[in-house]
Amino acid sequence: MTYVTKIYMPNKEKFKSYIDKIYESGWITNNGPLVQELEKKLQKHFGVKNLLCLSSGTDALQFAYKLMETTGEVITTPFTFISTTSAIAAEKLTPVFADIDPKTYNINPDNIEDVITDKTCAIAPCHVFGNACEIEKIDKIAQKYNLKVVYDASHAFDTVYKNRHILSYGDFSIISFHGTKMFHTIEGGAIVIKDDALYEKAKMIREYGKSGPDEVGTIGVNAKMNEFEAAMGLCMLDEIDIILNERKTSYEFYVKELKDYVQLQSINPDANKSYSYFPVVFQSEEEMKEVRSALNELDIFPRQYFFPSLDTIPYVEKRKIMTNSQDLCSRILVIPMHSKVEPIVSKTIKEVLKKIR
Ligand SMILES: Cc1ncc(COP(=O)(O)O)c(C=O)c1O
Repeated sequence: MTYVTKIYMPNKEKFKSYIDKIYESGWITNNGPLVQELEKKLQKHFGVKNLLCLSSGTDALQFAYKLMETTGEVITTPFTFISTTSAIAAEKLTPVFADIDPKTYNINPDNIEDVITDKTCAIAPCHVFGNACEIEKIDKIAQKYNLKVVYDASHAFDTVYKNRHILSYGDFSIISFHGTKMFHTIEGGAIVIKDDALYEKAKMIREYGKSGPDEVGTIGVNAKMNEFEAAMGLCMLDEIDIILNERKTSYEFYVKELKDYVQLQSINPDANKSYSYFPVVFQSEEEMKEVRSALNELDIFPRQYFFPSLDTIPYVEKRKIMTNSQDLCSRILVIPMHSKVEPIVSKTIKEVLKKIR
């Protein structure tokens, strides 16, 4: 069976040597030396400061809203993984959607101002499939209306926008290190925080709100990354160039094979191409379903990422139909980027489309 993502397992011997160290020290969690080392290395890798590792990308999103300490509405995209929306609602804020650009699949900045009200406190875009949002435009709107910006960069480990890593933008920028991601720590994530004081506060929140061994500074949660996860991250970081090269080859193969058959995502010209996912968009839902069944017959399971459009889920206010997002959701498939299956995947897509068009 071939799924859309294949978990990357780094060098086993290296991972074992980290496990030996953990056994020797007996330090398995609570901001251990490997978490600290990973944080330092990731800050250097991305060229950012104030990066905090957490137990998931979802936690990282919720941290941004906890740190804002505000109420009101957050303008976000309906076309993303559910956490981008659920984190807003979980922190007792109201998600309000602005529709996407049908070519880039990211929130369209031109739709943001229409939904700003006196209750709006933040904008929460997502760099979907690692494609950089129109950051300059979004930041300008945020400045004009005095709003915070929370960027969900979960797919954007390898994205650089205007010569700076994508995580360096916004008041908060978050990333997921879930096992299915290009870079992972089994489970995990990180937040990058612009404000130094809020970064110090986030460290407290991560550990029950403690400000010292016997002191409580604020309301906290337990969102610590453990040492085994950090060890996995350190091993992955050592192999990131191999991972990126493999994906680049897959990506370029698919572009060459499929560009005349399906719609491909338009990449922000101020950023590089991310090799994290390969989404393909068909002319109709029927076409997408035909291709999906043909691939499923071969035990290949692409995913209809992201479905459903988040403006349709039960707990959000239904203010306006997100036409572009709903349309894209119905016609998209993310196909597997594993070197063993790419030729059969692209061949099958082409064969099905030739037959039905
Ligand atoms: C865009 C996006 N945001 C947030 C998350 C949540 O990350 P995690 O699974 O680490 O909680 C994901 C995870 O897949 C994601 O794709």
